Amino acid sequence: MGKNLINTNIQSLRLLKEAGVTDNLNEFPINRFNIKESFKNEDIENNSQTMNLKTEQQLLKIQDLKELQRFINNFKGCALYKEANNVVFSDGNPNSKIMLIGEAPGHDEDIEGKPFVGRSGKLLDKMLNAIDLDREKVYIANIIPWRPPANRKPTENEIEICLPLIHKHIELINPKVLLLLGSTSTYALLKDKTPITKIRGRWFTLNINGKNIQAMPTFHPAFLLRQQKQKKYVWEDLQNIRDSIK
Ligand code: URA
Repeated sequence: MGKNLINTNIQSLRLLKEAGVTDNLNEFPINRFNIKESFKNEDIENNSQTMNLKTEQQLLKIQDLKELQRFINNFKGCALYKEANNVVFSDGNPNSKIMLIGEAPGHDEDIEGKPFVGRSGKLLDKMLNAIDLDREKVYIANIIPWRPPANRKPTENEIEICLPLIHKHIELINPKVLLLLGSTSTYALLKDKTPITKIRGRWFTLNINGKNIQAMPTFHPAFLLRQQKQKKYVWEDLQNIRDSIK
């Protein structure tokens, strides 16, 4: 293949990525009814199991992050792991007073095995910089550690299964404050379905495995990429978060 053609192909791939394309489609249709391993939407609920009592008891006994990471790497209770390339465990400083919680990894995160490395991650970095913070100074995890296929929203069932995992994660990090990024992490942890536009910027006390932690919901960076005018509210929330750790 000539150099020019390679460059043109690279440019088209970049363009597709910018436009938000995350998956390749073949030229011909695939009969997914014949593919056993294919991850059909209707399988999600059936495939997902609950976390059984024995597994939950093992989880409760975990004492450190390495052990938790190993546990999640081996956890087969949520069918999402089957399609994911990587477990996306966390990024940042485990000694931070601030823990950020997103929804679930997307395409880029799934490839790199790190949360918030795609477009919304770049915006998140800018948001943190605006209050003199960066990834070395905060800790970042997601409600769901595996990418849902085609970046769909995690189901309620998947969220319920993964909830004890993020509870344990928060318990081990023991942050002073939690910043809940978007409605999925807000709903999962606060159990409050008030629209994010109404609930953001308010402080809540969350009881995580017996310990009270202050939590604030704010808009998800992916939402801000679409709704630039909402950035001013997040700026207020971030200032509050920064002041809360002084
Ligand atoms: N969105 C999330 O909620 N988490 C990520 O890690 C990436 C995008």
